[in-house]
Amino acid sequence: MALSAEVRIANTAADLFQTAARQFAALAAEAVSARGRFCVALSGGSTPRSLYSLLAGGSAPSIPWDRIYFFWGDERHVPPADPDSNYRMANESLLSKIPLRPESVFRVPAEEKDGAAAAKAYEQTVRDFFKLQPGEFPRFDLILLGTGPDGHTASLFPGSAGLAENKRLVISNWVEKFKTDRITFTYPVLNHAACVMFLLSGAEKASIAHELLEDPAAKLPAQSVCPIDGRLLWLLDSAAAAGLQRRSA
Ligand code: 6PG
Repeated sequence: MALSAEVRIANTAADLFQTAARQFAALAAEAVSARGRFCVALSGGSTPRSLYSLLAGGSAPSIPWDRIYFFWGDERHVPPADPDSNYRMANESLLSKIPLRPESVFRVPAEEKDGAAAAKAYEQTVRDFFKLQPGEFPRFDLILLGTGPDGHTASLFPGSAGLAENKRLVISNWVEKFKTDRITFTYPVLNHAACVMFLLSGAEKASIAHELLEDPAAKLPAQSVCPIDGRLLWLLDSAAAAGLQRRSA
């Protein structure tokens, strides 16, 4: 695990999401005052829903929603109305509840039947938004990530081809265990971020948290997330941190 990783452990899940909401608000304020905008890539799965609801509920310090640009670190290969859609989850729990301009939301066109075409289109969207030259990578202000029991993150799963990608920004990555492809950011995008924030909640994440944070030999996908010139923040609740030797509050 990157020596630079900041590991913070909150007592309860509620404390965890409050901490994450404060971090989100602080990073947004910092980016907007420095660059006039905050570019964030949302994560999917179930864990971040509580954060999104908290942010939408306004309990976090005031957030300049009109200056925020939303992207996704990965998406299931399903249309936006599908129950499995990461976009749908974020829209229901956050985006539909905050004052934002539709043009500030850049979802993955995952309704596109051809996953590779969807990935290519989304890569171009990211390239155009950040005005990238060939070979350049975007610098997101914040990329939210989670991890599964197998140590995957975004949709970079153990044994998948996407782990080796070091030129593309977005790929369609075949996930053998789900017999489907997922559209996902690649490591270069994750590792060029100004801040990557992992959220882990619940006892079911305790053993993988120990492996990822305390067993370098595990060589799991989430362990290769190490921002080149940025912060790496691991936020856990005490249930997810139960297996850690090293504990910090
Ligand atoms: C996804 C995510 C994925 C997620 C982990 C954890 O599309 O599923 O981006 O990487 O973060 O699978 O999921 P849970 O939060 O549901 O445990």
